Amino acid sequence: KGIAKKAAKGSKITVKQAAVLGAGIMGGGIAYQSASKGTPIVMKDINQTAIDLGLSEASKILNKKLAKGRIDGKAFASTLTNIVPTLSYDSLKDTDFVIEAVVENPNVKAAVLAETEQNVSADTILTSNTSTISINKLAKSLKRPENFCGMHFFNPVPLMPLVEIIRGENTSDETIAATVAYASKMGKTPIVVNDCPGFFVNRVLFPYFAGFSLLLNDGADFTKVDKVMEREFGWPMGPAFLLDVVGIDTADHCTDVMSDGFPTRMPKLDKDPVTTLYKNNMFGQKNGKGFYTHT
Ligand code: CAA
Ligand code: NAD
Repeated sequence: KGIAKKAAKGSKITVKQAAVLGAGIMGGGIAYQSASKGTPIVMKDINQTAIDLGLSEASKILNKKLAKGRIDGKAFASTLTNIVPTLSYDSLKDTDFVIEAVVENPNVKAAVLAETEQNVSADTILTSNTSTISINKLAKSLKRPENFCGMHFFNPVPLMPLVEIIRGENTSDETIAATVAYASKMGKTPIVVNDCPGFFVNRVLFPYFAGFSLLLNDGADFTKVDKVMEREFGWPMGPAFLLDVVGIDTADHCTDVMSDGFPTRMPKLDKDPVTTLYKNNMFGQKNGKGFYTHT
């Protein structure tokens, strides 16, 4: 946190117009957070339904805050106006800061980052909200890796304070400083970490999920595991419910990256229950079916 504060002080860049690529669970949350803290943000997806969902989630949060008197009509309107939905790269030409938040697939992310670099100005900062994929690996798709770093938010974005900022081997100090400053302006607590699969938090979280999968393969009942972790251990939710919140598809992709990155510490399971759900198109809260049924 000390390093992050020092870095933010060195920033000469103030983000005036940001963009987020992907309007899903994370992209929608990031757009809401930036907009509500006063930085306009273009929200780009390839799917109009995802954009509509992202906007309606933002409206839901704002309506609730308005009803409880936590914001006034002006803040309500300015937050919504600050989110600029789009399906086209044309809207990115004036952005000075981009957060990529598309699916956790290295090839898709590399292609999206390379396309984005061609559609923004030479000094625009590009970041990725990847959960696990090495920033150095993604940077290979870019002509200006000095302008690139990881910016990893947590779910749900409006409520989780931490943002991991991941420094790649070619990331410039200015890029780190600007990213720290923008995360702080979004009301978040940034920490700067070095690059490796899973960075800091997911190096802790995914071995925990892997331990849970092993328990299920040994015959444990997921509802009982959740009950113990919630009621008796005191965590807000157990691993099965948290996997549904994260998204089973995302969790499965993250597990693959972590198993490839740490083959001896997190070996691939022959029959991973998360992979089984994924193969059955049960993606958790996002499509209503995962470990649990969500309405
Ligand atoms: N967006 C915005 N507001 C929300 C919200 C959301 N998604 N969900 C709930 N809220 C609001 C509620 O409406 C409520 O508002 P009021 O105070 O006006 O009633 C408020 O936030 C608090 O909600 P709750 O009382 O239901 O929840 P809580 O405060 O007890 O706990 C929490 C909230 C801290 C998020 C808790 O549920 C929690 O810890 N969840 C687990 C989160 C977690 O572990 N995230 C990490 C996922 S992994 C990851 O992100 C990394 C990765 O790369 C995969
Ligand atoms: P999601 O499935 O909810 O959303 C992904 C969105 O990306 C979809 O709306 C999809 O239409 C869009 N998309 C796909 N290809 C695109 C492209 N070429 N251009 C623009 N949009 C495109 O996924 P998510 O949970 O929001 O995850 C997004 C990223 O954030 C992933 O890298 C994930 O690992 C990371 N992340 C997720 C969580 C979590 O808990 N879900 C937490 C932290 C980080």
